Amino acid sequence: MIKAEVAIIGGTGFYDPKIMDDIQEITINTEFGETGLLVGTVSKIPVVFLARHGSRHGVPPHRVNYKANISALKQLGVTRVLATTAVGSLQESLPQGSLVIIDQFIDFTKNREDTFYNGEDGVIHTDFTEPYCPQLRTSLKKVMSEKEIIFSDGGTYICTEGPRYETPAEIKAFALWGADVVGMTGVPEVTLAREAGLCYANLSLVTNFAAGISPHFLTHKEVVDIMREKISVIREIFTGVVVSLTEERDCRCSHKEDYSLG
Ligand code: HPA
Repeated sequence: MIKAEVAIIGGTGFYDPKIMDDIQEITINTEFGETGLLVGTVSKIPVVFLARHGSRHGVPPHRVNYKANISALKQLGVTRVLATTAVGSLQESLPQGSLVIIDQFIDFTKNREDTFYNGEDGVIHTDFTEPYCPQLRTSLKKVMSEKEIIFSDGGTYICTEGPRYETPAEIKAFALWGADVVGMTGVPEVTLAREAGLCYANLSLVTNFAAGISPHFLTHKEVVDIMREKISVIREIFTGVVVSLTEERDCRCSHKEDYSLG
């Protein structure tokens, strides 16, 4: 059985890892469905790559099988996940091309399978005071600082159901709630990862100003074009993080014993 401790989840415009050698395409069967993945190495370190929307962007955000994806990573022995998402910006200070290490989220999704805990093991409430792994966030910061890549250290991601974009009124409301960026795929990926005891970090790329802030109508083409422009930087950052990770996890991400059973 192939094993890897680190996974990269590629979002819109990131379907080909490019940074991996000895790539093998595999399918993992989970109790929630099948997931197709690539396994290979980055500087001899085993890494799994998962294209969230499928290898050709065939799966829309609200139809991604997040539970199968996280279960498949768990089966492969993954303990750490580096995810990317394309986002719209709600802040003038975050123009197109900005990179944000997300540290909080607001869940505005409506209709997703979003937990592994449906009562079979009792009632389990997972702590989300620190939704994204602090150790992985620190690694991202360190690598980007060393490479002199400009980034925002922290930001609140609001996840909408999609696949439609938001109305300007929604964006105004989200900004009042404290959201900095908006996307359609960050949740429940982050919550399922924590339920599964995985370390998870999200590096978001601003591809557009959100509806009503943008001077023009939104298009998927704009999102993909900006992602294409910046994808090599994201690949470089993730490579840097993969090679710099120490063996020990010093965070609480896997501390399932802390979750309340009732
Ligand atoms: N809204 C939601 N998701 C997105 C956006 C947006 O403006 N841009 C990229 N993903």
